[in-house]
Amino acid sequence: MNLTEILLVFLISTLIAYSLKYLWSWWKFLVLASKIPSVKFEIPLIGILIDFLFIKFEDYLPLIVNFFEESPSISRKWMGSKLIVLVNSPENVQVVLNSPHCNKRPPIFYEAYLATEGLVLINGQKWEHHRKILKNSFSSQMLQNIIPIFDERSSHYIKRLNEKVDCDDFDIYQIVAGCTLESLLQGNLNMTRDFYENEYFDDVEKLKHCTMERMFQPWLGYEKLYKMTKLYKKCHQAYASTVALADEVVNANHHLRIADELKNRNVISQLLNVRNNFTDNEIKDELITFIIVAHETTALTLSGVILMLAIHKDVQEKVFSEIREVVNSNEGMIDIETLHKLTYLEMVIKETMRIFPVVPAFGREATDEFKLEDFVIPKGTLLISSIFSLHRNTKYWGEDAHLFKPERFRTENLKKIHPYAFIPFTGGRRICLGWKYTMLFKKAFLIHFLRAFEVNTKLKFNELKVNMTPTVAIEQNYMISIKKRQLVK
Ligand code: HEM
Repeated sequence: MNLTEILLVFLISTLIAYSLKYLWSWWKFLVLASKIPSVKFEIPLIGILIDFLFIKFEDYLPLIVNFFEESPSISRKWMGSKLIVLVNSPENVQVVLNSPHCNKRPPIFYEAYLATEGLVLINGQKWEHHRKILKNSFSSQMLQNIIPIFDERSSHYIKRLNEKVDCDDFDIYQIVAGCTLESLLQGNLNMTRDFYENEYFDDVEKLKHCTMERMFQPWLGYEKLYKMTKLYKKCHQAYASTVALADEVVNANHHLRIADELKNRNVISQLLNVRNNFTDNEIKDELITFIIVAHETTALTLSGVILMLAIHKDVQEKVFSEIREVVNSNEGMIDIETLHKLTYLEMVIKETMRIFPVVPAFGREATDEFKLEDFVIPKGTLLISSIFSLHRNTKYWGEDAHLFKPERFRTENLKKIHPYAFIPFTGGRRICLGWKYTMLFKKAFLIHFLRAFEVNTKLKFNELKVNMTPTVAIEQNYMISIKKRQLVK
């Protein structure tokens, strides 16, 4: 054999070896996948792609809910050649959220909405580094320091809301979003700006709409193709105001770009401190992420709570009495202890998040094989769980799961419920970074709101519908009216 022949043999045998290795791993993948139960026959290499082809925006959430209603605690679906495992019991959710092999969050629900390399979309070592540093901004001490800002911003917004007293029903969402965003900017990003009924929120709505459009065209998951479309331009324009806001935050804080012993550990101080090694792009991406995820989720939940209080007047009076008692006994001071003592209000907030969880589902990618029940989940599988379905499942919440009953969150009632049956912020290592922050903010806002106003609505609980936008929002909007509350000492 001459040298060329030797090289050729070597090349061909390497090629065969690689092909066999690939075929073997693909075969192993298929064997493992075939052992996971499947509910329905699916067309090979197409699977559920077909279900998404001809549906309308409003059918998206019911379709996902339907998948989970049909599914046992674990089941298999195919999306093209991608294996999807539906994780459909609190026990399995707990395993997935705490498994070291499921720490990777796939972009599915957030790709166009948060087109950044911020905490929500990054993985691996980069995520470890960012999370380790940014979690300092949400320590008990930092939260305690931020409460006066929640208090002051809420009080300011309530004064402005006086203009709506005795007016027709109005949508409270954008007003609440303004207060949420201003509090985040002032407390965590060292910036003040007026967002009361600001058109910035129209751009966020456009951005959400673009995200839904992209989700409906799975082929636009290919970045190169997506960038050639009109939709990309539309998304980009809607995104511009958040990018400009992030730039403004950086410019207002450029003096923090030194290696300093940190006195203030809020988000912007952590991001800009040279010791923490964030690049300019990383800083901007994290700012965009925080601006969007913090205000929108919180404002939707808070508007939902206000609507629930307007519909359930008895609950509203009970919350008001608790606020009066707790805040008066603390001489009107709103601090972390006051907020922790508002236990009934907390139950009302949780019950709202149970029935209307703003994040409807979560996903993880298996970065290695692992066991779930008696099945081996192959590497590369996409695991999805529906928070919305878990929260409304009669198996965990009883036959009255569809009703609004804050009492189910009493400590003695919760003992009967699996902790992972209620996961509005998910759980495990990637649990929402701002979950304690948002609970405190909502309570602070509601103290001011309910001391000032009595809230009403024409909407009826059993007529409410929800839409995926991609966060879950009430279709009829958060239409309420307010009256000045009679002062009671
Ligand atoms: C009611 C309000 C909120 C809800 C319902 C909510 C819910 C969630 C959910 C479900 C996730 C995904 C977790 C997962 O995939 O396992 C998440 C992630 C995240 N949230 Fe929230 N969130 C809220 C408010 C906030 C606020 C106020 C902030 C910041 C101030 C925040 C910052 C984050 C961050 C940074 C992540 C990514 C965490 C990581 O991957 O390490 N969220 N949130």
